[in-house]
Amino acid sequence: MTHPLPHPGRVRPRRLRATPAMRRLVREVDVHPRQLVLPVFVREGLDAPRPIASMPGVQQHTLDSLRAAVAQAADARLGGVMLFAVPEVRDAVGTQATDPDGILNRAIAAATAEAGDALVVQADLCLDEFTDHGHCGVLTSDGRVDNDATLVRYADMALAQAAAGAHLVGLSGMMDGQVGVVRDALDQAGHDDVAVLAYAAKYASAFYGPFRDAVESQLEGDRRTYQMDPANRREAAREVAIDVTEGADVVMVKPALAYLDVLADVAATSQVPVAAYAVSGEYAMIEAAAAAGWIERERAIRESVLSIRRAGADHVLTYHATELAGWLAEEYR
Ligand code: PBG
Repeated sequence: MTHPLPHPGRVRPRRLRATPAMRRLVREVDVHPRQLVLPVFVREGLDAPRPIASMPGVQQHTLDSLRAAVAQAADARLGGVMLFAVPEVRDAVGTQATDPDGILNRAIAAATAEAGDALVVQADLCLDEFTDHGHCGVLTSDGRVDNDATLVRYADMALAQAAAGAHLVGLSGMMDGQVGVVRDALDQAGHDDVAVLAYAAKYASAFYGPFRDAVESQLEGDRRTYQMDPANRREAAREVAIDVTEGADVVMVKPALAYLDVLADVAATSQVPVAAYAVSGEYAMIEAAAAAGWIERERAIRESVLSIRRAGADHVLTYHATELAGWLAEEYR
């Protein structure tokens, strides 16, 4: 008695994988340059751009080299740039953050002058780069982060950034009430056209390590009293709901790759666009493994951003944005 040939039946998913053209036809998500936002660092007092050791390929810019990076980002048709700045002088309340001549506000003005309408110029709205203790807010006399006193600083910071020409302010400090306070301050000053991005679900993550290098952070301790516990998924929905109620125009999940479950949850229910931030540690892991020859660099970059899109992000902040956009442009040509 001969056995019949094993038979998979009528249903053969491999048909749709058989050729590049077929795979392209049935692909569910794409990455487009417009969905990429490039984070950039500007350092006060530099004569020339300075490499960041833990982020090979990323630099601290001068105002001049920032302009060049912004021009490149615009040529690559990115969605935007997100500006971070490192001042020369820091103090307890982060005075430089609200000084119109502070480095971040000057960087915003330079970037908007360079980009025109071609990019959404976004600014990090947080105090950690400006405080000498490195926390995202001001401290009480016994050293705790003072939520409500910090909100007053954030409101002033938003006004300075809007006056410098920011199209969008990115609230990354995780203080309660920050979106509402900043929205009201902007509106009362006539800046109702400036958008607010809320880092709604921002986790207290080890993956920010290289960023601390990039901004020469003086933080001792950690941010666990304000950033979210990595164990919590449901809480992200609460943070998003609060921020949207307070007027957030865009909400963000951060980091990205280790939090794709959170991202998928948020994307499934959000009524506003959802951003995700592929943070410095995600960048550094790819670069380090690629430099060691352990992964294929371009494939790993493409796959990670594609996965963040697949999980539901409308746009992605990534240090690879300009380079990735170049590869994508060839593909779409
Ligand atoms: C706070 C801020 C941080 C990052 C973006 N905004 C650092 C932190 O929360 O400790 C991290 C971004 C990255 O790691 O790429 N201003």
